[in-house]
Parts: sequence; structure tokens; C-alpha cells
Amino acid sequence: MSSSNPPVRVAVLGCGTVGSEVVKLLQSSAADLASRVGAPLELVGVAVKDLTEIGPDMGLAADLVTTDALSLATRADVVVELMGGIEPARSAMLAAVASGASVVTANKALLGSHGPELYDAARRAGVEVYYEAAVGGAIPIVRPIRESLAGDTITRILGIVNGTTNYVLDRMTLEGLDFDTVVRQAQELGYAEADPTADIEGYDAASKAAILASLAFHTRISAADVYREGITKITAADVAAARATGHVIKLLAIVERLGSEGVIARVHPALVAENHPLASVHGAFNAIYVHAEAAGELMFYGRGAGGRPTASAVVGDLVTVARHRVAGGRGPGESTYLALPALPAGAAATRFQLRLLVKDQPGVLAGVSRVFAAHGVSIETVRQTAGDGANGVELATLTVVTHKAPERALRRVAAALRAEPTVAAVAGVIRVEGE
Ligand code: HSE
Repeated sequence: MSSSNPPVRVAVLGCGTVGSEVVKLLQSSAADLASRVGAPLELVGVAVKDLTEIGPDMGLAADLVTTDALSLATRADVVVELMGGIEPARSAMLAAVASGASVVTANKALLGSHGPELYDAARRAGVEVYYEAAVGGAIPIVRPIRESLAGDTITRILGIVNGTTNYVLDRMTLEGLDFDTVVRQAQELGYAEADPTADIEGYDAASKAAILASLAFHTRISAADVYREGITKITAADVAAARATGHVIKLLAIVERLGSEGVIARVHPALVAENHPLASVHGAFNAIYVHAEAAGELMFYGRGAGGRPTASAVVGDLVTVARHRVAGGRGPGESTYLALPALPAGAAATRFQLRLLVKDQPGVLAGVSRVFAAHGVSIETVRQTAGDGANGVELATLTVVTHKAPERALRRVAAALRAEPTVAAVAGVIRVEGE
């Protein structure tokens, strides 16, 4: 095969942080990409929201730039969607597919909510949808799950899939700072968005969890199926208590398969033992830890965001799809043959750490342990530290770590403890994951 094949026409929709880096890579690596594909990649247009987005440094001819994404989407062999959000990205991708183009996208929000609509349309049209950049930015994880591990059975994935929250929790851990201070500094440094809701409330991670669960368990899981808790309630005291028991706090996306019963997908803060590989994922880095029956444990690590790293994954997909156009063949489409039910997070069995502020007097520990026993929750460790003696009553902090227990049992324990006269406060109820 040679690059004398006719060009593969490429349209890029969106020219922000990632889109502009994709265009630059297409320009700077044109000869290598043509050799790898077997045909030149011809940029036929770049769609922007506003024509002023494109500076002269991009070296783009004016007639390549348009604000009409929908029309551009029907004039290419491969459409690279980097606009983000639901509309007009959804309509543009559906228009692309209907016109016979394959799609490469980094749009986790769209795939997490409307993925099946796009996959169905692509299957009907005989075209491809690739989305390596939608989870973990530059990290190869979609293709390893979809292809490399296609001979294995994945049972569980634990992911740090949001760089903003990992950055915030990491600085809280390393510097003992409180949540608000770190978020404010992260915004000043450009690590957090001006409106960080999607990141810190776990919505971004929930979309990625839905994508991972769908791929790993051959089942349609949408972001709405994912239990979600963000990191806004995590305090410096929670972080200090975690450290005291040899843990760090991470926002994890956890997807697991309970045999043929179903799939649980959840996103929440969790204590991770300091010696677990995920505990050493610092700053804005991402990592995805996969348990597979035959392969055992695998960890994929790298930059989960940023223009150039994400562009690497996008252009990788583009090369793959373009190769198929030139040489024939097709990558795997959506696989849903297991069609397992999505189970509520309450069905998951997890270890928990609770911090209890209790009266420091005889019989209190026995009373507390009776509450756990009454709800069938077994205590693994209890650590007592002296309290502050406020209001003339000596108080102590009990840090309790449980053995694995169903989440709903733990909720009943927490409610019963709050009703105990000897318990002044139940704080920092956090799951312990990753053993
Ligand atoms: N906002 C995401 C993060 C990056 O903080 O990781 C893109 O998914």
C-alpha cells in the first residue's frame, strides 16, 4: 500500500484546547501519518463557534474554517468531534454517520448519555465510532478493554479518571490544606475550571465510569446508572484521619460485575491504602486499575487531560479509522451481548471507615460495637484518640474500620449511631477500596 491512495478527508469539529492540538499534529506529522495510514490525511475543514478562535499561528487557510459544523460533518470521510457537550455535537455526529463518515470523539458526556444512539446509527451505516480520548485522555484504555482484553473476563475496574479532583485531593493530602483553599488555588493555576461542578461533583467521572462499564461488561450502562458522590464534603480532618490509618483519599470510579447478577457502577471518594498503586497517582494524573480473570491486575497510567496528550489519543484513533478506510476492515462495534442489569450501589459490599466523636467513659466502646453487631457489620479495627473535653465532657475520637459489609447495612449503622446518647457525632463515613 502506498500514500498514492486517494486522501482520507478529515473534518475537525471544535478548535479549543484539544482541537487546536489535533490540527497541529495533523500538520506537523503529515508525512508520517500518511505513511502509517497508506494515504494522506487531508484536512477539509475546522468548525469553530466563533471565527476569532483561530489565530494566524494555526496556519489554516481561511476557507477551511467554518461556523457550520453540521454541514462540514457531511463533507468528510472521518469526522473528529471535539466540541464537547450534547448539542450540536450529537446532531453533527449523527449527520456525519448518516453521510457515511466514521467518527472519532472525546465527548464522554455525550457517550455516557447518548452513546447507544450513536453506536446504533454507526452500525446501520456501516461506519465506525472511536473514542479513546473520552476516558483517561492520552491513556490507552478503551482499546485495551475493547480489543487487547477481548479474550479475558473483566471483573472490576477502579479508576482515577478525573485529574481536577485528583489534584485537589492530592494537595489536601500532601499539604494538609482544606478543600476550599485548594480549589481556589487550582482555579487560579488553571487546573480547575471557573465552574468546577462537573469535576468536583463527580459528573465527569460518572460519564467515564459508564463508558468503562459498558465496554468491560458488554452491557449498556449510562451515566444515569452510575451512583455519584463528589468530593465537596471531604475535609482536612477526613484526610488526616485517612493518613493516620495508612490511607489516602481518592475520587474513584468503580465498576464491577457481580457474576450474572448485574453491574454496579459508582463514583465516590474512597480510602485507598498507601501501598496500593493508585495511591501513588499524584497531581492531575489519571490511572485505571483493571482486574481481569486471566490477566490478573493491570494498571494504565498517564495524563488524563490537556490539549496535546488528549490529541495523541484522538489522532491515534484517526489513524486507525483512516487505515480501515484505505485497507478495508473494521474495528469492533458496540458489544452488548451480556445485557446485565445495572444494580444500585447499595448492593456493593465495601469496607468503611467512620470517625465517631464519643463520650470518653466506661461502656461506650461496648455500646458502639453492639450497634455494629446488631446490623451484622463486623469491625476490623478501632483506633481511639483523645478528644477535646468540650462542655466539661471528655470526648474521644474513635476511628472504626469495618470488614466488608453491604452499603445499606452501613447506612443503618450510621443512623443508629447518631441516635446513641454516648455518640456526639458521626463524621467522615468513607468507603475503603482497592484491597
Ligand atoms: N475535566 C477533566 C479532568 C478532563 O479534570 O480530568 C477531561 O475529561
